[in-house]
Amino acid sequence: MVKHWSIATFLLLLLATLYSCRALSEDERLEEYRKRGYTWPPKEEEYVPNTKEWKERSKHRLHQIELIDQGDGERYQGFMLGVYTSLLGRSFTDYGWGITKAPKAVVDILQKRLHDGLSAENQNIESAQTCLDHGEGQEPLFFDDPNVNREIVDALLPLHEAWSGVDLIPNNSYGLRVYRNESSLLMHVDKTDTHVISSILHVGHGENDEPWPLVIEDYRGNVNEVFLESGDMLFYESSKLLHGRPRPMNGEYYSSLFSHYYPKDWDYETINYDNHIRVPAHWYQGIQREEGDTTPKLVGVETTFKEPECEHGWCDLQRSLKWHNVEAKYGQVFSGDKQYRTLNNIPSEESFQELFSDKDEL
Ligand SMILES: *[C@@H]1O[C@H](CO)[C@@H](O)[C@H](O)[C@H]1NC(C)=O
Ligand SMILES: *[C@@H]1O[C@H](CO)[C@@H](O)[C@H](O)[C@H]1NC(C)=O
Repeated sequence: MVKHWSIATFLLLLLATLYSCRALSEDERLEEYRKRGYTWPPKEEEYVPNTKEWKERSKHRLHQIELIDQGDGERYQGFMLGVYTSLLGRSFTDYGWGITKAPKAVVDILQKRLHDGLSAENQNIESAQTCLDHGEGQEPLFFDDPNVNREIVDALLPLHEAWSGVDLIPNNSYGLRVYRNESSLLMHVDKTDTHVISSILHVGHGENDEPWPLVIEDYRGNVNEVFLESGDMLFYESSKLLHGRPRPMNGEYYSSLFSHYYPKDWDYETINYDNHIRVPAHWYQGIQREEGDTTPKLVGVETTFKEPECEHGWCDLQRSLKWHNVEAKYGQVFSGDKQYRTLNNIPSEESFQELFSDKDEL
């Protein structure tokens, strides 16, 4: 009898503990905030990375977030994103993005898949994605091959490790996604659990299409518009840096494969818990805009943002740097300092030929 009673108590206590970890009351959350010595505004040394330009940019964004006047839900969501990207999320590289050339063997099988897909009679439509807008009847197409994608995400692992400088775990390669006319993608960051170091491998676009930029901010205060060519692969720190395609596409098709990795020592549970704790108490009330404060208005949309007062919903487009025809070769990576760096200890480009030579796609 006594034994049963104690097991029941133990289970109840366990449940209570689990429950309280998941749903801290606001008082408990703020208690933990104080215990950790957090302040608002954050201390200068808390910004990650701690560059002057990133601090400036982060302070601006966090101020826009406290000014959000839609509702407390949007402000809380905004602070979660802002606190992670500005303060808590780890950074890996100087700029947070870089362009390389994907191995030819991988590009070849993806181009074959793209062209087979485009000429097939029945085309698969991608399931609806948040942040993605498109012309009427112009939903993105989706040309999937899960087994080959799995092999690709594994094969490209050493390139992503060489670029980021850490050991990674592959999550997935997603695609091919084929955007169509008048598509646009809101500025956003990716899931912090598994999408930390990522790449966009651009497979192809319509011959007469207007060049269509990927927009990505970086740690050095720049906002970059990157125009990719077929076979270019853009590495980026996907959970830290806002990126998207806010300018509407004008063309026939634009296709890419997205690959996602996260560090071997990634402790998402802790990161997510810390993220909640670091949100300041005034998420609930926000702050009043002072007279003369010309900070552009930020609006929460699903899990991300938009600046409705600016063209294409993103003010930074007015001061972006444009990158065309970056001719990085396999094994090199080009970034915001205009240098081509060597990716060390990666497999030879020929070794991918062997890896993918038996694909019936070829
Ligand atoms: C990728 O991450 C998702 C969670 O975001 C998980 O459900 C899935 O199992 C992961 N896939 C692999 C192959 O690790
Ligand atoms: C894309 O849409 C624009 C605007 O409606 C139109 O002018 C253009 O011809 C379209 N392009 C293609 C390739 O369909």
